[in-house]
Amino acid sequence: LESELDQALVFAEALARECGELIRQAFFKDWPFRTAPVGGYHTAYDVKKRTDPVTETDRAVEELCRRRILERYGTGHRVLGEEGFDGRPESLQVKDLDPPTWAIDPIDGTANFVHHIPLCAVSIALITEGQARLGVVYNPIMEEMFVARRSRGAFLNGKPIFCSGVSELPDACIATEYGSDRSASKVAMMLEMVRSILENGTQAVRSTGSAALNMAFVACGRFDVVTEWGPYTWDLAAGQVLVEEAGGVCLLPNGAQFILDGRGILAANRYLAEKLRFQAYAFA
Ligand code: IPD
Repeated sequence: LESELDQALVFAEALARECGELIRQAFFKDWPFRTAPVGGYHTAYDVKKRTDPVTETDRAVEELCRRRILERYGTGHRVLGEEGFDGRPESLQVKDLDPPTWAIDPIDGTANFVHHIPLCAVSIALITEGQARLGVVYNPIMEEMFVARRSRGAFLNGKPIFCSGVSELPDACIATEYGSDRSASKVAMMLEMVRSILENGTQAVRSTGSAALNMAFVACGRFDVVTEWGPYTWDLAAGQVLVEEAGGVCLLPNGAQFILDGRGILAANRYLAEKLRFQAYAFA
């Protein structure tokens, strides 16, 4: 089983590079002269909602992943992908007895991709017996390949990475996101989250626009904490392995135990995770 996971990691990294090539070509096609079409980008792209665009590249990358996984593992492996999601919360669950499941976000940070902001990544994770075992987050624009596998550490472009040693909130750089839900209750919750982060006196607050990159940035010590309600299993599964293998901790934003389909993340280095776990007021 261990050697199977080693081989799966090699497969996942090669797949991420292949996906990255598609993303890079599309991103740089009209670089640097892309300007928003009259009426805004939503006229040029398919939209689930205006706040949640889908491009033909998202579709092509997910299609490529499904094809490669089928070729390699047959129908014994399941794919849980952002674009193939049927909208039912039950479909997000990966139970202990389920077949090995690949959680795929073809482009995490699609709004960045659409706006020509170089913060987007393909996120690929393998989940077996309900646990994420390995994860790859690849930003092909900045050429940053984050990989991790349980008990084997986390790496950025082949070098081991570790969470930061920042132990006080006033020294911390904290990431959060605004997500794509514009309902009054979600907006109120997000503003409350930002207010509580600011009132706790952090050094800096940031958003990359990609939940997977936020977690990769916690894993390599750029961010000390990331917290957000809203992301899905495919946004979080690879990042969970990265953060935990880099010595960090994943929880839900209210301090509860992290679950892959919990639609929330509080990832931090172990010092701040310990503090925030008991200050769950901050991000509840
Ligand atoms: C989104 C991004 C965003 C986060 C959302 C995600 P997408 O993923 O990660 O930062 O706030 O929760 O859904 O739509 O770009 O793949």
